[in-house]
Amino acid sequence: MDPIKQFESEVQQNIAGLGKDADLQALSRIWIREVSRHKWAYNFSWLGRPAIQFPNDAWAMQEIIWKNKPDLIIETGIAHGGSIIFSASMLALLDMCDAIGTNQSFNPVQSRRKVIGIDIDIRAHNRKAIEQHPMASRIEMVQGSSIAPEVIQQVKEMARGYEKVLVCLDSNHTHDHVLAELEGYASLVSVGSYCVVFDTIVEDMPKELFLDRPWGPGDNPKTAVWEYLKSHPEFEIDKSIQDKLQITVAPDGFLKRIS
Ligand SMILES: C[S@@+](CC[C@H](N)C(=O)[O-])C[C@H]1O[C@@H](n2cnc3c(N)ncnc32)[C@H](O)[C@@H]1O
Repeated sequence: MDPIKQFESEVQQNIAGLGKDADLQALSRIWIREVSRHKWAYNFSWLGRPAIQFPNDAWAMQEIIWKNKPDLIIETGIAHGGSIIFSASMLALLDMCDAIGTNQSFNPVQSRRKVIGIDIDIRAHNRKAIEQHPMASRIEMVQGSSIAPEVIQQVKEMARGYEKVLVCLDSNHTHDHVLAELEGYASLVSVGSYCVVFDTIVEDMPKELFLDRPWGPGDNPKTAVWEYLKSHPEFEIDKSIQDKLQITVAPDGFLKRIS
């Protein structure tokens, strides 16, 4: 067997094994529960900007971006900007690889590829740091509620003409809000690409972790995903991603557009 194919096949077997290992999955949930008490997700940054993410999930995003080579990434929830800077840096790498592949010069600033970030409250210090970041030329920010009809309309207009679209939802984590975001933005995802819904893990955590939040078990991004999928067969949960990661805030949140 071709050694590359053999390695890939071994990896697929590893992932299938992880998907069947209920004990390890339970242990992973316990680990996430305990580390969340320390606000672990706040400890990381990407190219200098805090990203409120688990590092494993960023790695999965890199794999999704490399496979799909999006020209547009739409993200709800900007916060300090780490996740939109991450996406913009991935788009810059895609541009660079395209230039190498076609033997053309690489313009680090000009790109058709874009990230649209949406947040209801872009704090002045965060906006300034994002606008001054070397990745800023690939980023457009929209301030407003991600489920406001005028914001959805504005983003749809900005998305016109783009062909390979990836969507990431990471703003308000209540069921109703995420369901409205899915209804608003998931249709923009191109076939083969993903709508990634973060913090679906809330469903698997004890309610005392969210006493100061409007979301919790029974009312969170995972319940919204389940509801959305009842009437949207064009998406399916890509379980292989959560199986490979184990440590992820997005179990059942990697939605692949299949038609
Ligand atoms: C978890 S943080 C986003 C983290 C960011 N994606 C990252 O990885 O660093 C959630 C963000 O959602 C924003 N947010 C809350 N409600 C929102 C809404 N209705 N529309 C848009 N953004 C909202 C908050 O202002 C906050 O910045």
